[in-house]
Amino acid sequence: MIERVAPGQGPTGRKWPLPDEAATAGLAVQLAQALDGGLVIYLHGPLGAGKTSFARALLTRLGVGERVKSPTYSLVEGYDAEGQPAWHLDLYRIADPAELEWLGLDALADPAALVLVEWPERGAGALPAADVALHLDYAGQGRHASLQALSARGQRLLARLV
Ligand SMILES: Nc1ncnc2c1ncn2[C@@H]1O[C@H](COP(=O)(O)OP(=O)(O)O)[C@@H](O)[C@H]1O
Ligand SMILES: [Mg+2]
Repeated sequence: MIERVAPGQGPTGRKWPLPDEAATAGLAVQLAQALDGGLVIYLHGPLGAGKTSFARALLTRLGVGERVKSPTYSLVEGYDAEGQPAWHLDLYRIADPAELEWLGLDALADPAALVLVEWPERGAGALPAADVALHLDYAGQGRHASLQALSARGQRLLARLV
């Protein structure tokens, strides 16, 4: 009999309770420590779930000295994370993925790049495929996170998470 693994559990997924913002930042730091080269992270969840908080904590941990801005209006912000190119996108205001063409997102396809995307479903077809998807959602006063690996690179990252 084939053993089934429920989504979000087992070797391809993990879940965390995040009772406060420090816990969200803590998860971002854990992920930063497990990074080993490029990675594409899709950040899912409703407004206020903590996607930007997570991205900011992750980039800060990677030594992005300049204060991490929210790309709500610019759509994309680029950083040098200790020599590694890092991109943070927020596609909330995108109505059609074709609107992304003028941004010239070719740099996102660099396999060495760290790419963090809020509202990735709004950029469908114009983004590199996700290695991991982080779903954040409300849970009482706090939040809840589930992380799924969607590629071999993502699975290796999950395996390295302590
Ligand atoms: N685990 C958590 N529990 C409670 N509040 C949180 C948690 N993580 C983040 N927050 C707070 O929730 C808000 C999240 O905002 P933001 O990161 O901009 O969300 P998003 O980018 O998903 O719209 C911030 O006010 C932040 O302080
Ligand atoms: Mg945001």
